[in-house]
Amino acid sequence: MADPRTPVRRTDWPDSVSRPVVTPLQPSVVYSSPDPDTLDAQYTGGAQGYTYAREGHPNAAVLAAKIDALEGATGGIVLGSGMAAVTAALLGVLRQGDHVVGADQLYGRSLRMMAEELPRMGIATTLADATDVDAVAAAIRPETRMILIEVVSNPTLRVADLDGIAALARDRGVLLAVDNTFTTPRGCRPFEHGADIVIHSVTKLLAGHSDATLGYVAARDPDLTARMGVLAATLGLTPSPFDCWLAERGMHSFELRYDRAEATAATLADHLAQLPGVTRVLYPLRPDHPDHNHAKALLGDRGGNMVTFEIPGGRAAANALVRAAERIAFAPTLGDVGTTLSHPATSSHRALTPEARAAIGIAEGTFRVSVGIEPEEVLCDEFEAAIRAAAAA
Ligand SMILES: Cc1ncc(COP(=O)(O)O)c(C=O)c1O
Repeated sequence: MADPRTPVRRTDWPDSVSRPVVTPLQPSVVYSSPDPDTLDAQYTGGAQGYTYAREGHPNAAVLAAKIDALEGATGGIVLGSGMAAVTAALLGVLRQGDHVVGADQLYGRSLRMMAEELPRMGIATTLADATDVDAVAAAIRPETRMILIEVVSNPTLRVADLDGIAALARDRGVLLAVDNTFTTPRGCRPFEHGADIVIHSVTKLLAGHSDATLGYVAARDPDLTARMGVLAATLGLTPSPFDCWLAERGMHSFELRYDRAEATAATLADHLAQLPGVTRVLYPLRPDHPDHNHAKALLGDRGGNMVTFEIPGGRAAANALVRAAERIAFAPTLGDVGTTLSHPATSSHRALTPEARAAIGIAEGTFRVSVGIEPEEVLCDEFEAAIRAAAAA
């Protein structure tokens, strides 16, 4: 009942014997407990309840449970971005003097963590080729505490030797953290392959609409998860309830979106490969992909929604292609419901020299496509026209 003397006081929520079908959005920053004894019990674990949104809130819990179910995890944590999840996984576990082996084709900001932030904190790092378990083994030192890889790399779509690296990590007593953003649990469930920690940028395919920035991290060992949760609350890595609410809504269609985009990606890859203006197509399940056999073994028929291709003609041709493909968003992200196109040389890999880019297979004419759910014939036509325009430039 409303307070008759002032509208400042909060009004009781109306009673209803029926419940909303849609998950309620709960933006409250703070929660009121009935008395100090109850609050005390909440802090000591004797009573279940929220206290302050930076420490946790219902919309994050609902979303985390959904991703847990897909990944076969328990107690996963939703965070304010994919990088917040990478940060929680690294800083929640590592201490000064530890060493980390990272895949040499990690996401750009994760590479920056390896190159700059971790060394600044006294944590040494080495990069190694995650498609080659011997290269990863050679990088391990007595003080190595963690290996961080992605299942499928950006943008060359190289496929990590997940089983080989998991066996190596087990053998050497090193934790294996897997960023599963590109592959999603629809393509691969890293815990089933021996991963200790699974990370997501939920911003991408899981949320799926480019309107929420979120991350997720879960560990096999509940003590590790608890440590990451404490770190997240202390560093303020917690997500916004509204973003969690949007992402939970996005996840209702995740499997349908993923399957549709994946089928279209396979068709688009084959279509691009037979166009005269295309010099190279990378798609894990195509027989000409460098990791084809390994991709088949690890991913089965789940090639994912990402396709990378290359055209000749340098920057002029690249500009012409993007301008001609005007209906396809030119944007350095992935996993949107609509197809997006990115140019690694001027976005994700711009910090590398042209020689360093060439060494990992990125040229001025390399494009990465995150395939969405448009009809496949629309996309094939649009790309064909854009590639013709680039060839004429
Ligand atoms: C593989 C991978 N990991 C982590 C991230 C970081 O995610 P966010 O942008 O949500 O911080 C990205 C972003 O593109 C990514 O592609």
